Amino acid sequence: MLNLLNRLPPGATRGVERLLKSIPPVRSYIEKQYDSMMADLVEELHPYGRDHKVYARLPKEGVAREEILREMEEFLAAEQDRWAKGYASGAVYSGDPAHIDFLNRVYALNSQSNPLHADLWPSAIKFESEMVAMTARMLGADQTADEIVGTVSSGGTESILLAIKTYRDRARAERGVKRPQMIVPTTAHVAFEKAAHYFGVKLVRIPVGPDYRADVEATRKAINKRTIAIVGSAPTFPHGVIDPIYELSELARERGIGFHTDACLGGFVLPWAEKLGYPVPPFDFRLPGVTSMSADTHKYGYAAKGTSVVLYRGKELRRYQYYTATDWPGGLYFSPTLAGSRPGGLSAAGWAALVSMGEEGYMEATARILAAGRFIRAGIQRIPELTVLGDPLWVIAFGSRTLNIYNVMEQMSRRGWSLNGLDRPPAVHLAVTLRHTQPGVAQRFLEDLQDAVDYVKAHPDESTGMAPVYGMASSMPLRGLVGDILIRYVDMIYSVPEG
Ligand SMILES: Cc1ncc(COP(=O)(O)O)c(C=O)c1O
Repeated sequence: MLNLLNRLPPGATRGVERLLKSIPPVRSYIEKQYDSMMADLVEELHPYGRDHKVYARLPKEGVAREEILREMEEFLAAEQDRWAKGYASGAVYSGDPAHIDFLNRVYALNSQSNPLHADLWPSAIKFESEMVAMTARMLGADQTADEIVGTVSSGGTESILLAIKTYRDRARAERGVKRPQMIVPTTAHVAFEKAAHYFGVKLVRIPVGPDYRADVEATRKAINKRTIAIVGSAPTFPHGVIDPIYELSELARERGIGFHTDACLGGFVLPWAEKLGYPVPPFDFRLPGVTSMSADTHKYGYAAKGTSVVLYRGKELRRYQYYTATDWPGGLYFSPTLAGSRPGGLSAAGWAALVSMGEEGYMEATARILAAGRFIRAGIQRIPELTVLGDPLWVIAFGSRTLNIYNVMEQMSRRGWSLNGLDRPPAVHLAVTLRHTQPGVAQRFLEDLQDAVDYVKAHPDESTGMAPVYGMASSMPLRGLVGDILIRYVDMIYSVPEG
């Protein structure tokens, strides 16, 4: 039955799901399965429900500031060790205490600033315009005759949403495209799917080859009159590999279509990796077909969380991103991005991160990260039960032909690690950050991984924590049921525990 369902396209399985859920005993069985999966996770999501005051309504009298700060310091002490000692994949990209202190001071100085009010905070305008200019130059703006422009956004997802909205609006205005579609490799970040969903763009998914890079021929075949943009990643989130950006962007150029390089993850690493002599295929504005890019300052730009840069080839294209209102009783209004008011303190911290790191700082950080990536990748390759997927530099995905990789991930969690679970194929990845370049961290990762593999070999049927959820997601043809579980999980995030 499952095999048969697996062969059905997602649309067809939806009907089967509806049918199954309409049968009361099946429905109640499914609900019970959900409940038992969720029970394990409640504790993990709301650990402070037990021994801390829960505020389900406003306190009658305000709580003393000192008390609030004391409680926050307690949370910090409980949570900091894991990421600070390098147990997390991605998440905190610098984590250096002196760097954090510096960014905190910058934020404190600018905490009231809002770029929406350019007259009050011209400093925010300086910070944002210079962040864009510095990022553009780093990504090839100096080596093309075209002007590369952009805006600051709140993160990778917003940069991607904005780029897709821009292409949709341009195609509508200039080519009369009413039912837009975009071509996106299956491994591109899910933010493109979100953009398609939000902006009514049809998503055409392109498979990746055995090297996990986008299939150029399939892309060529998928282009039609309604195509507004093609997407490639440098590198991809799941497997850390760089799509054939030159080939894909040339296809786009030949047809006069937009091409977006998603360098959210690699924008602040690859330019320096290339200078350090690593094999980095061209991916930025030096390629004439690349018409937009996203690069996240809040990842390997080492800024505080909450900023990214989206770039365009030319002001004409960028204009489709803007929103202006000229007949609103609230006055003349414009906003370059999705939000209205925005945290100027974060733009200040983004600017300060870039300026304080400088080219030398990024070069040195990249050298350390890539050396740690090489060491970790080689160590994983020495574990016979594991296989590294693709040819990654520092975001290293691995799976197993003999073991349940999600059980390995769970065993790593038991040893303190927070890794990313992947699907299709089942795998796990570690995004190496500066935290993993601290003495002994990479070695500890490999030792714990060997231990986890040995444990799973000895206990192949033990599946706890997130392992069954990932296992179910990867083997379950009825994706709507998996979606139900995710919705319950999000509901759980916003449920206040009983005080
Ligand atoms: C390649 C890529 N694109 C986009 C994103 C989305 O970024 P954010 O989580 O900042 O919205 C990520 C996040 O990891 C990413 O790796």
